[in-house]
Amino acid sequence: MSDATHSQLHAIRGSFLDFVDDPFLIAESESVRYLADGLLVIENGKIKAFDHYETLRDQYADLDITTYSGNLILPGFIDLHVHYPQTEMIAAHGEQLLEWLNKYTFPTEAKFRDVEYARTIASFFLDELLRNGTTTALVLTTIFPHSVDVLFEEAQRRDMRLIAGQVLMTRNAPDFLLNDAKIAYEQNRELIRKWHHKDRLLYAITPRFAITSTNEELTLAGVLKAEFPDVYVHSHLSENLKEIEFTSALFPENKDYLEVYERFGLVSDRSIFAHGIHLSDSEFERLSNAGAAIAFCPTSNLFLGSGLFSLGKAKSIEQPVNVGFGTDVGAGTSFSLLQTMADAYKVIQLQGGQLSAFQAFYLATLGSARALSLDDKLGSFDGGKEADFIVLDLQATPLMALRNPTLTASLEDLASSAFALMMLGDDRAVKATYIKGNLAHEIKPSDS
Ligand code: GUN
Ligand code: ZN
Repeated sequence: MSDATHSQLHAIRGSFLDFVDDPFLIAESESVRYLADGLLVIENGKIKAFDHYETLRDQYADLDITTYSGNLILPGFIDLHVHYPQTEMIAAHGEQLLEWLNKYTFPTEAKFRDVEYARTIASFFLDELLRNGTTTALVLTTIFPHSVDVLFEEAQRRDMRLIAGQVLMTRNAPDFLLNDAKIAYEQNRELIRKWHHKDRLLYAITPRFAITSTNEELTLAGVLKAEFPDVYVHSHLSENLKEIEFTSALFPENKDYLEVYERFGLVSDRSIFAHGIHLSDSEFERLSNAGAAIAFCPTSNLFLGSGLFSLGKAKSIEQPVNVGFGTDVGAGTSFSLLQTMADAYKVIQLQGGQLSAFQAFYLATLGSARALSLDDKLGSFDGGKEADFIVLDLQATPLMALRNPTLTASLEDLASSAFALMMLGDDRAVKATYIKGNLAHEIKPSDS
């Protein structure tokens, strides 16, 4: 879509799948919305109308309509936890978390002291998100403020809704990757003023994890959160057993890992913690009560041998915690939320549970929008929301076409097709990505 058409009314016709509620808590027949022949009307980047084509046809008879037949159109995927500086070191062999950080991650992140390098990777990273159908992400950067600036600048150029923040680290990492707590506090204030709510961008206070922060730094992170209550807090929590042991040695006064963040005022309904694999019942309960969220990162958890996240416990009817998926690249092995869902399914299977396709697609869309308190803007096709959406090709490869020869009109059959899509699909299945109603990525017939 060209700039010239941006402000005009236009529409997409096709088969739409989204969610009106949480299929972990409400029957799928009531939480899933499937319009086999629907029309999405877009005005100035927002959804003006969404219904069956039949219902809207007369009202929008003269509209410029793009039709996708045989594809499935979903709200854009949301990646709830990803490290853009680790793009280049994805798939680094052989270590668990703490060794992996020292051997591969910290030296790679040090390269971001060079602003031009940072911009090159930021640009590649955002294009990779779009190629994979990810339209919003919660992103870790590095300790260098310019690594935040270039990411936001590149996201702004692409008109993306993105959340990020400077990484805070004051100990237990090489000197070249440590910031001074007071200087970082001032830098954060400046970055928040510069970027928070600028266009579609939002800021996250980002202490890397308890191990790399001193009491002083976490205190100042809490001060920042109190000064700017609607910024996010983004960190890691309870990923690896050695990490937990080290954390309790560093913070012996705390009864568990979560309490480290609680003590500094860092756990609220705008806090997102990656992993949460080894949490106690009490920690799950406190996360639920606070309205905080966990980013479930299955490809990373398998890759680093961290453990199996208990999605069943997190999404219990009695005490649900907000959950979304994180790719966690570079410990995660794919930018694709489809591949992430496939590994999530296997992680749940290994624990004797089940994850339905609709539950998985919910987590990658409306579930994550809710986790970010952005469900008034993102995550479904409700009128008034921002028109970020993706067109998925269920027959993207010969094998997928064999498994899914046609797109069904029935919800029951769709559950099976959508499951095959998430198990077999990847970036090749993302036929098109739209940002605010504008085409931002497309696989042209000659590309495939
Ligand atoms: N914990 C602290 N830093 C990191 C990181 O970069 N990746 C992962 N997976 N866990 C972390
Ligand atoms: Zn991470």
